Amino acid sequence: MSAPVPLLDLQAQYRPLREALLEAVTRVCDSQRCILGDEVVALERELAAWLGVAHALGVSSGTDALIAALMAIEVGAGDEVIVPTFSFFATAGSVVRVGARPVFVDIDPRTYNLDIDAVARAITPRTRAIMPVHLYGQPADMAALMALAERHGLAVIEDAAQAIGAREGGRAVGGFGAVGCFSFYPTKNLGAFGDGGLVTTNDPRLADRLRLLRDHGQHPKYHHAIVGGNFRLDAIQGAVLRVKLPHLAAWTEGRRRNAARYRALFTEAGLDAAVTLPYERPGVHHIYNQFVVEVPDRDRVRALLTERGIGTEIYYPVPFHRQACFASLGHPLDAFPHADRAAGRVLALPIFAELTDDQQERVVDALARAFG
Ligand SMILES: Cc1ncc(COP(=O)(O)O)c(C=O)c1O
Repeated sequence: MSAPVPLLDLQAQYRPLREALLEAVTRVCDSQRCILGDEVVALERELAAWLGVAHALGVSSGTDALIAALMAIEVGAGDEVIVPTFSFFATAGSVVRVGARPVFVDIDPRTYNLDIDAVARAITPRTRAIMPVHLYGQPADMAALMALAERHGLAVIEDAAQAIGAREGGRAVGGFGAVGCFSFYPTKNLGAFGDGGLVTTNDPRLADRLRLLRDHGQHPKYHHAIVGGNFRLDAIQGAVLRVKLPHLAAWTEGRRRNAARYRALFTEAGLDAAVTLPYERPGVHHIYNQFVVEVPDRDRVRALLTERGIGTEIYYPVPFHRQACFASLGHPLDAFPHADRAAGRVLALPIFAELTDDQQERVVDALARAFG
């Protein structure tokens, strides 16, 4: 039996950078400046330039980025925020955490991102904001969404946790809405050595508010004009991310090359009919944080892949409208057919930059066997 193919091999990324990473961590240890500080300030400057945004602020996680963004635009009790029902939990959880009500909408079945017509239908006098998710690394339809939001005077907070460097019309996500929110969770294209996140904005007033909010609203020290939280980024994470950032574009190119190679291999194996490959919307730059296919009889197929040592994952098996904690919101269970269908069929395959040709062939071969 050949060696297993993991869904993500972080060791392969770590090995060539080990010395530089240990040196960066040592620098922080020797400085004994453990929270925010020079490393985080430098990272923020480098990331703002890399993303083409005016302001970038390091925060403690992608989840806290979303909470800080909602607090910055003063979303709270009585407000509604429109979110896709098919995403990672934090998208909806953050809205509840600030006391507002998440309003779920169905997804576009091809991109898995929120359906703009469904968003238009969900707007009420209580709607304050829309939170698109750039799921798997593909931008939501930002041109259409920003036009809709502007017509209705609504704020847009981008959940770009999975999509650092993804672009629509040449412009990076996180720079379209009022605030962009990123995650440095280790499985992301740019991953830290623990939790971390980023908020971005082109609005200097919002940047000031976000800076206050991430440190309990204090300025100067022990004087609090507003109530914030502890959303600060650690210096070790800042130092690690600064070593990794110069490699991010090449890693993303590796993921995109692997995606193109999968397409060719699936066609070669005659699997195009059985396996639905990811759809790339024209005009977008998809960064493939995940390469997600759709297959019939998904759980059987997944079990067969597991038997053959192929790592896979299901992002996400239970949409928000079916979560026990959101039952009281009163969304009808049958109102989101595209999300329900995706939840039953999606399967993420290994796509990390260092994946070898041989490993990719084994993934496709295992799928071909699953379909007889
Ligand atoms: C779409 C989405 N939103 C929010 C988050 C939250 O990020 P974090 O895990 O850094 O809190 C994640 C990450 O897991 C995510 O994938």
